[in-house]
Amino acid sequence: MDGNQDGIGDIAGLRSRIDHIHQLGIDAIWLNPTYPSPQGDHGYDVSDYFDVEPMFGSLEEFDQMIDDFHQRDIMVLMDIVPNHVSSQHEWFQMALSDGVGNPAEERFIIREGIGPEGIDPPNDWISIFGGPAWSPFPSSKESPRRWYLHMFDPCQPDLNWHHTDVRERFENILRFWLDRGVDGFRIDVAHGLFKAPGLPNRIGFGDNWSACWDQPEVHVIYQKWRKIVEEYEPSRFLIGEIHTATRERLLEYLRPDQLHAAFDFSFLHQDWSSDGFRDRIGENMDLWRDTGSLPVWTLSNHDEIRHWSRYAPTHSDGSLDDQVANIRYKSLLALIMALPGRIFLYNGEELALPQANVPDEDRQDPAFFRQNPESEYKGRDGCRVPMPWDANLPNSGFTNAKPWLPMPEAWHAYSVSIQHDNPDSMLNYYRSMVHRRKIEDWMKSDSIVAIESSFGILSFIKESENKRVRVLMNFSDSEFHFDNGNTIMRTSISGISDPFLKPGELAYVEI
Ligand code: NOJ
Repeated sequence: MDGNQDGIGDIAGLRSRIDHIHQLGIDAIWLNPTYPSPQGDHGYDVSDYFDVEPMFGSLEEFDQMIDDFHQRDIMVLMDIVPNHVSSQHEWFQMALSDGVGNPAEERFIIREGIGPEGIDPPNDWISIFGGPAWSPFPSSKESPRRWYLHMFDPCQPDLNWHHTDVRERFENILRFWLDRGVDGFRIDVAHGLFKAPGLPNRIGFGDNWSACWDQPEVHVIYQKWRKIVEEYEPSRFLIGEIHTATRERLLEYLRPDQLHAAFDFSFLHQDWSSDGFRDRIGENMDLWRDTGSLPVWTLSNHDEIRHWSRYAPTHSDGSLDDQVANIRYKSLLALIMALPGRIFLYNGEELALPQANVPDEDRQDPAFFRQNPESEYKGRDGCRVPMPWDANLPNSGFTNAKPWLPMPEAWHAYSVSIQHDNPDSMLNYYRSMVHRRKIEDWMKSDSIVAIESSFGILSFIKESENKRVRVLMNFSDSEFHFDNGNTIMRTSISGISDPFLKPGELAYVEI
């Protein structure tokens, strides 16, 4: 929500909509980076870790926002970005201006190129956003040419985590925000930070990930961070965005002396398949058993196609089957709500927002600009289009100015103002499911058994002291006859006693 009418969401806007967030019934909110940033990558290019981006507000407003949330028993998690800084950060600027070979350069990963005059990058690493992970280090007009590493955009130089300054600085950053009352951090690219000694080529190093990511030294850092958050009472929370080549490697981050949790991203890339969902759930259960760290379920986030669109089936003429899409959508929420663990919802998910079509000329995501023009991948702007609040106002009430990404006309219909009082709206379904999970012990209970999939039907049993519930979800395209003797909730509009589970439908059946 844009509070100061400059077209960009901000802290004042967020505070003005706090009732909406509170009514959802959530326990915590995670904010994408709020630090000063040239916004070269949606704020993940931080130029000052000790302040608030002026477009979003001031430090004082940030403090007031924490108070607002705390008064409503909602915790606030910040994003922390330790793998890289903005090229506008004072450290990179010093490295550029203090003369070749100056000590400030050592905080980054700068190497001579190979080939005549160092004309080629030092190794074969590629940026996550496409193209080489190296750019010429701009101050080096000298020969041979030198290059700096950026695993993401060139505006995000990677830090050298072997440097004491880097380690100390981030400990201070954590304390600075924890002292202001922040309840925890989502750690960006938590598997990054260190790179393999000698920066070997990916080819020939083993699996592609090993050289650039997930190095053993990173665990020492999280052991220290865990100690820092435990200095606070109650202990604050650390959750990592972690991608590792194997489950065994992920386990290392979730040791009791490191991070409290890691996102599970498997549902973001899982096809509509009961076997697939069964396997992903099983893997998370195994990880939980091995680490004691509760799984973290998520269906959408700021990097992925919104899951309404991902799972919407099409009619034979290619048009979207909205009706089945909505049933699937409700079922997916009911599915994760019945699983043990933590759940992250993405803003606008509660309105069933689809992926927005953003015209190429309005796109902002650096990932879009680094694709080759024939690529079908258009970057991440389509899931970041702002929330529609009020159907009767321009830009659905998000702003009076030009919104930073254009808001589709059709989004009026999804507005909070329309859904708020409609008992059948997706918004009220989300509210009721969050509420239900709070009061129904069997839903969040740890006890899950008989996770099965056959003929496109996923099923498992959840138990609490006084209730036993079978969760059934139909991933097939046909109706499924089930014993609905005691159905307590279902996600299609079929009557509660209809013995057929519709395509996409989920039912909770007490047994
Ligand atoms: C992961 C974040 O989720 C993504 O949005 C960002 O572009 C990269 N990390 C780089 O910071």
